[in-house]
Amino acid sequence: MKKLIPVYVRVPVIFFAVFGAMEFFIDSGDRPAFIKYPMLTLFLFVFLFILIAIEITISAVDNVTYSILTDEQRKQLDDATNIGLTETEWYKNLMKRLTKSEPIENEANLLLDHDYDGIKELDNNLPPWWVYLFYGCIVFAGVYLIRYEILGADNQEMEFQKEMAQAKIDIEEYKKTAPDMMDEKTVILLTEASELAKGKAIYETNCVACHRPDGGGQIGPNLTDDNWILGGGIKNIFHTISNGGRDGKGMVAWKGNLKPTEIQHVASYIISLKGTNPKDAKAPEGDVWVDETEKAPAEVAQQ
Ligand code: HEC
Repeated sequence: MKKLIPVYVRVPVIFFAVFGAMEFFIDSGDRPAFIKYPMLTLFLFVFLFILIAIEITISAVDNVTYSILTDEQRKQLDDATNIGLTETEWYKNLMKRLTKSEPIENEANLLLDHDYDGIKELDNNLPPWWVYLFYGCIVFAGVYLIRYEILGADNQEMEFQKEMAQAKIDIEEYKKTAPDMMDEKTVILLTEASELAKGKAIYETNCVACHRPDGGGQIGPNLTDDNWILGGGIKNIFHTISNGGRDGKGMVAWKGNLKPTEIQHVASYIISLKGTNPKDAKAPEGDVWVDETEKAPAEVAQQ
């Protein structure tokens, strides 16, 4: 006995339809609903179990019925259940309604008296599937025209630009909360003793060989004075440590070895060394660096 849809298709389809509907309709945040609500998983199991039980029952009943039929009835039943989809009445009716085609026997009624060197023309109905598609297009065009040309909804380019603008805002937001996305534009000076201690540890592991433990300078310049070759202040120092000094001077770029937060810590530590005046420090190099933003308001006003 063949059924139109075999059981190994029917059961999974029903099960996954119910499963999909649950995931779709139950709001469970970023986790799948069946993980968030264990009761759902239980329900799904029970559902699957019942589904299989029903199928087994039906096929058992079918088998019993089949066995008590006479040979004649069996043959009838086989004929009825063994036909393919395209042979069913239902399918034939549907096709007839969609195409409105005339059976080939009636062709004589449709024949027009046009005859082009033996090529003849039939006066068939327009197939309804095509006609309704056409009406659909007309309605769509109307809606489209009003929405985009008259009411002025966003076209694709506007939609794209809005999304890009929103994405930029989102990225800025993300950078604020993700410290390792920090760069010289967003870095801020740390002053907490515990933060400076972390900076000191990084300095002692990586920088003392050239800048001396007290920052007085050796191969590298003095980091405790007011003079900076490459600019002072947290932003410039962050930039120097990330990207290195001038070519051939010996100060490498540290961004491959240190995370942005680590560079922030060590830069803050260096700034905290200012004015410590270590013994035998290297002579100042570069210019005295004045932080524009740290000037007293009066000075700024004078300029
Ligand atoms: C191999 C030696 C060496 C090491 C190691 C080294 N530096 Fe330097 N550093 C230099 C030299 C040389 C310069 C001068 C660069 C220039 O003149 O362009 C410099 C410059 C600097 C400057 C800029 C100073 C100014 O006056 O503008 C800072 C800040 C700095 N180093 C921080 C660090 C930090 C932090 C570390 C450790 C993570 C470090 N350095 C490791 C050699 C070194």
